[in-house]
Amino acid sequence: MGDYYSEASFLPMIRPADVRDIDALVALEQRCFAGDRLSRRSFRRFVTGGRAIVLVALVDDRLAGYALVLRRTDADYGRLYSLAVDPAFRGQGISRKLLVAAENAAMALGIHAMRLEIRQDNRAGMALYEAAGYTIIEKLPGYYEDHADGLRMTKVLAFSRDTK
Ligand SMILES: CC(C)(COP(=O)(O)OP(=O)(O)OC[C@H]1O[C@@H](n2cnc3c(N)ncnc32)[C@H](O)[C@@H]1OP(=O)(O)O)[C@@H](O)C(=O)NCCC(=O)NCCS
Repeated sequence: MGDYYSEASFLPMIRPADVRDIDALVALEQRCFAGDRLSRRSFRRFVTGGRAIVLVALVDDRLAGYALVLRRTDADYGRLYSLAVDPAFRGQGISRKLLVAAENAAMALGIHAMRLEIRQDNRAGMALYEAAGYTIIEKLPGYYEDHADGLRMTKVLAFSRDTK
């Protein structure tokens, strides 16, 4: 385990997910997303497969949030596939800390840029990513299960700490 996890945050504790987190991850996914949810099977595959970066944020041993980055073999960028914070823990800077930790973990694996897709109507998510330096590179009409429009964003990565 590299220093980038502990440097990125003191509270909450951020660490790689393991199989014991899967029940809590599935429950959190239900609370955070109305559709396009990750299934238990997907969480298990990402947590045990060794190719994805799955980080969990814990507050007093409770799962407060997670970040999931996928690595493509044929691309030099990572894909921030999902990031969510339990409603009970929002507004405390946890997503910002998870994002920094995920970016730093990706960089430690040689990933130099991150991409993500987000619903155009997701104001909190857009504000988070724009403040973190992500820029819109593509519009994705009807991208989501309910045909909502999406946006593709990207950022060139550089090691950082969450300073707030
Ligand atoms: C988006 C989400 C991850 C934010 O989590 P959070 O831990 O509450 O966010 P933080 O407290 O770390 O806030 C970080 C920044 O995000 C933005 N933000 C967070 N919540 C916001 C809100 N309700 N309205 C506007 N901006 C918001 C702000 O820029 C904030 O920075 P600031 O505190 O300096 O203003 C959370 O609301 C969530 O899980 N939503 C459902 C899942 C989702 O939409 N994920 C992102 C797209 S996959």
